Amino acid sequence: MFKGLFQTKSKAKNPVVVDTTGLDMNNIPQHIAIIMDGNGRWAKAQGKVRTFGHQAGAETLKTIVRAADKLGVKVVSAYAFSTENWKRPVTEVSFIMELLSRYLTNEIDEFNENNVQVRFIGSREGLPEIVKQKMDHAIEATKDNTGIILNLAINYGGQAEILHAVRSIAAEAAAGRLAVEDIDNKVIEDHLYTQGLPAPDLLIRPGGDLRISNFLLWQIAYAEIWTTKTFWPDFTPDHLVEAILAFQGRERRFGGLVSR
Ligand code: IPE
Ligand code: IPE
Ligand code: MG
Repeated sequence: MFKGLFQTKSKAKNPVVVDTTGLDMNNIPQHIAIIMDGNGRWAKAQGKVRTFGHQAGAETLKTIVRAADKLGVKVVSAYAFSTENWKRPVTEVSFIMELLSRYLTNEIDEFNENNVQVRFIGSREGLPEIVKQKMDHAIEATKDNTGIILNLAINYGGQAEILHAVRSIAAEAAAGRLAVEDIDNKVIEDHLYTQGLPAPDLLIRPGGDLRISNFLLWQIAYAEIWTTKTFWPDFTPDHLVEAILAFQGRERRFGGLVSR
């Protein structure tokens, strides 16, 4: 095996190969957010039903989390279902809920083998009971894992998250536990679903659309954005490396004049 090629240990069922040629391994984004888009169009392009694309997208996520881990990424936040996705036909929504429930059942062993800690962001309101149970189980079963964090956004919306934070901060203020002048960025961040996680350094959107679609609105204030026309089911570790290479070529100034 040549230098720059990482491979997972033999116990992994599907070894993931990541070609790191050209990457600065000392400047890997800590937190990568991914809007996993294009599943439906990917399926349609093959004359298949949209749900086939969701199934394929779930497989892609497994591969990309493993690749991100090999590269030293600490957190992957993956947008699986938005608060706006309830507008879709009930058959598609039900399929996605079943897929999530299956994914969270079948992948626990693999998460544990690979030391992946699973977390969730989003509202539990409206989610089927079985999905909530699987979420709780996944959190509990992987809580002691110390490797990469897979932060799954399910029934997530950035505006809903901010609304939720504002309500709980206001409630604390109204109850006299928090002075209004003490509300600062830290207080807000402590009330977001992402509490305790660093802000994403890099936001990836496959599928060709150039928008945020209500993902991590507060947290992406200074994230670098990388998009590709490739649909999510076709997204490979090579695309991930390409995105990180682009990230490494950016000058992050955070409003100042010099790169940090
Ligand atoms: C993303 O793929 C998955 C979800 C939003 C659940 P889409 O289902 O949005 O696929 P396209 O964008 O219609 O191709
Ligand atoms: C964003 O994709 C949500 C997820 C990937 C889960 P959408 O397909 O819902 O976004 P829009 O509707 O194209 O903005
Ligand atoms: Mg879409």
